Amino acid sequence: MASSFGAAQVLVASNRGPVSYEVGEDGSLRARRGGGGLVSGLSAIGPEAGALWVCSALSDGDREAVRRGAGEDGVRMLDIPADVHADAYNGIANSVLWFVHHMLYQTPLEPVFDAEFRRRWASYETYNRAFAEALAEEAAQGAAVLVQDYHLTLVPGMLRELRPDLRIGHFSHTPWAPPEYFAMLPGDIAAQVLRGMLGADRLGFLTHRWADAFTACCERFTGGLGGTAVGVHGLGADADFLRARSHEADVEERITVLREEIGEGRRTIVRVDRTELSKNIVRGLLAYRQLLDDHPEWRERVVHVAFAYPSRQDLAVYRDYTAEVQRLAEEINERYGTPGWRPVVLHVKDDFARSLAAYRLADVALVNPIRDGMNLVAKEVPVVSDGGCALVLSREAGAHEELGEDAITVNPYDVVETSRALHEALTMSGDERADRTKRLAAAATALPPARWFLDQLDALRGTTASG
Ligand code: G6P
Repeated sequence: MASSFGAAQVLVASNRGPVSYEVGEDGSLRARRGGGGLVSGLSAIGPEAGALWVCSALSDGDREAVRRGAGEDGVRMLDIPADVHADAYNGIANSVLWFVHHMLYQTPLEPVFDAEFRRRWASYETYNRAFAEALAEEAAQGAAVLVQDYHLTLVPGMLRELRPDLRIGHFSHTPWAPPEYFAMLPGDIAAQVLRGMLGADRLGFLTHRWADAFTACCERFTGGLGGTAVGVHGLGADADFLRARSHEADVEERITVLREEIGEGRRTIVRVDRTELSKNIVRGLLAYRQLLDDHPEWRERVVHVAFAYPSRQDLAVYRDYTAEVQRLAEEINERYGTPGWRPVVLHVKDDFARSLAAYRLADVALVNPIRDGMNLVAKEVPVVSDGGCALVLSREAGAHEELGEDAITVNPYDVVETSRALHEALTMSGDERADRTKRLAAAATALPPARWFLDQLDALRGTTASG
């Protein structure tokens, strides 16, 4: 695949890359491009900047593209064997490291760090090594390498050994676990993760809270940060893109359909998430049910529009969670619904245009994660909202650090408090809602994606290579 051996000046490494492939029925390859902060950042530095994105093949289509050498310029996809990738991505990154940082374990029975865990950990090392070797091959002398996320915690240390000349950064898009919770990991594994990260010159986090938790883990397990710098970069929403995209024809069409589903003159409580354990969709539905119990005056007058898009369906616990979300939504609809009113409108098929349509219509946005690195939905809704939207926001979302003042804050575990917050949000005056939305939108767009990326690159280039 597109590779520039030894010529790349700026390298990004992440599990999921900016493009994915599908093999069509006629055998041809179809490429699909993704979005997000890194894509905006790399396009901001321009095609002549010598940038290369190293990512993993995730699907059979991706693997086929690697074999056919059909890659895009500026992307090198690694054909890591499917079983190694599954052990590293599902078995370790998403089932262990994600659970630790989001504090998702039901601790009476899990985690269990047994021989099977050790086998998967070996795959996680192999997978990290494949990235480190590819980066070492591709990077020009003194190049800047920006490694992303919990999938690749060992890469900075491995790469440092191979290429002491490089500027190595790592950015965590998730929370970081506090030391008492991180200590659940076997001692050698905890130390290996931290030392791997500390191979970087500079580590980036989304909020001070996660940066402090990481620092506290290092104080406890590795004797401190050593020479590694730590910085905070609170990724913001992309206002220009969102405002333009949310007024395209397909979004207008979705608005018409949604209005019919909601019904004339009703208020809407909107949520949009990946169906993710940490997003707390089930307690969101319980809070809505509580609202209908405590305030029967809202019956027939409000609709909960919940979009819960499939994610990580290889993991049984995610499939079960998706089923529970669907079951509870149906239960609420059966118990409270009337011939002309469906209390919960749940959609599970990913549709970005429909998400934007819901953002525009929302009277209230419900963002109640158990724990979340940032949560961009909380930042996007105020930017796109047509008439102003009250934000009910978990104190455990990273976005709360920036948006807390103009949101209605909730403890994500307290469904009674959350239902009261929904009531307060629904009854907020139009003027107050509009004022708050304006301030929320300003805070949410303070650090647009391209700036977020360039700041990190500048800061990394300003560090002294520690090799
Ligand atoms: C989180 C991670 C991201 C990841 C996203 C989607 O937000 O921090 O790095 O891209 O989840 O997860 P997936 O497993 O579908 O790549």
